[in-house]
Amino acid sequence: MEQKKQKQKLKRKRRNKISHNTAYKTKLYLTKTTILKTPAVKILKENRLGINLAGLKLPNPTMLASGILGYTKETFKNIADGGAGAIVTKSVGLKPRSGYANPTVTQTSCGLINAMGLPNPGIEEFAKEISEAKRVLNVPLIVSVYGFAAEEYATVAKKAVTAGADAVELNVSCPHVKETGSEIGQKPEILKEVVKNVKSAVQKPVFVKLSPNVTSIAETAEAAVNAGADAITAINTVKAMAIDTETAKPILSNKMGGLSGPAIKPIALRCVYEIYEKVKVPIIGCGGITNWRDAAEFLLAGASAVQIGTAIATKGPNMFKAITRGIDAYLKRKGFRSVNEIVGLSHKS
Ligand SMILES: Cc1cc2nc3c(=O)[nH]c(=O)nc-3n(C[C@H](O)[C@H](O)[C@H](O)COP(=O)(O)O)c2cc1C
Repeated sequence: MEQKKQKQKLKRKRRNKISHNTAYKTKLYLTKTTILKTPAVKILKENRLGINLAGLKLPNPTMLASGILGYTKETFKNIADGGAGAIVTKSVGLKPRSGYANPTVTQTSCGLINAMGLPNPGIEEFAKEISEAKRVLNVPLIVSVYGFAAEEYATVAKKAVTAGADAVELNVSCPHVKETGSEIGQKPEILKEVVKNVKSAVQKPVFVKLSPNVTSIAETAEAAVNAGADAITAINTVKAMAIDTETAKPILSNKMGGLSGPAIKPIALRCVYEIYEKVKVPIIGCGGITNWRDAAEFLLAGASAVQIGTAIATKGPNMFKAITRGIDAYLKRKGFRSVNEIVGLSHKS
């Protein structure tokens, strides 16, 4: 009798277990279906905008440009929450630098002129911020690197990658610090040496950010690619200045600086167009982007992604979401299934 009761209990238990499993599976199935059906727009949207940039997976083609709010893990997180598909840090060097005395930035009617003088805490200190940022970020973190010699670029790049950088961007284009930046990018032989040194020091993608202050930016890009660059960022700021009519003196303490914002967009666009005709690696367009239409122009000119600087500094990180939404609506309206389909499209017409 006792044995019979035991058997029945076991049977009931098994039946319950099966129905529980079935219910669990059904629930799972429903959840899956719901995930697939309810936010289908979101999934499609992600697919339409997602890109692979020299091996990095970005949820959308917008990135924070170097030097703009990119100093601490809190600001990186804020930028990612604002919708950026990737983040480029402020340029960092081997040793700490305090930068120039104020004024370092001045506003003009068509953008900003800055000569910050590459202030940064040095890679040893910054490495901690990189590691901590990597723990909270869900988008790639690219560390911008500068140096005063090829070996120095390589040392800083290696330390950045060891700290967790997903890629490095070589600043060979800063227009206002002697013996680095554009003074390197303007000399193809030295540029090649820098890129080769960095490439042999790190196993992550190496982006090279170019200056428009050269005779042929396409030839400079070609030199960088021949030396191993995985992507080209174009452009850094355009050498410029402003004068105070009351004091009759240059406004910036360094006298010369770099112009950014809407005024440089047509220059940057021309640079991207020319580079696209010369090299095969992805191009990241940068310069004066303030809305989705500007961004779309860069994609059509040949950029696979875009970086935004001044507009984020003046209007805040939510600009990324606004620009991404605009690009998505444009792709949908024009019947494109992926943002990749419009990269370089203006060359075909
Ligand atoms: C205040 C300021 C600081 C910048 N610092 C850097 C920097 O450290 N490294 C760099 O490669 N570019 C730097 N840039 C250049 C930007 O990354 C970008 O190339 C340029 O501003 C053009 O883009 P935009 O018109 O969207 O600002 C800086 C620009 C500004 C306005």
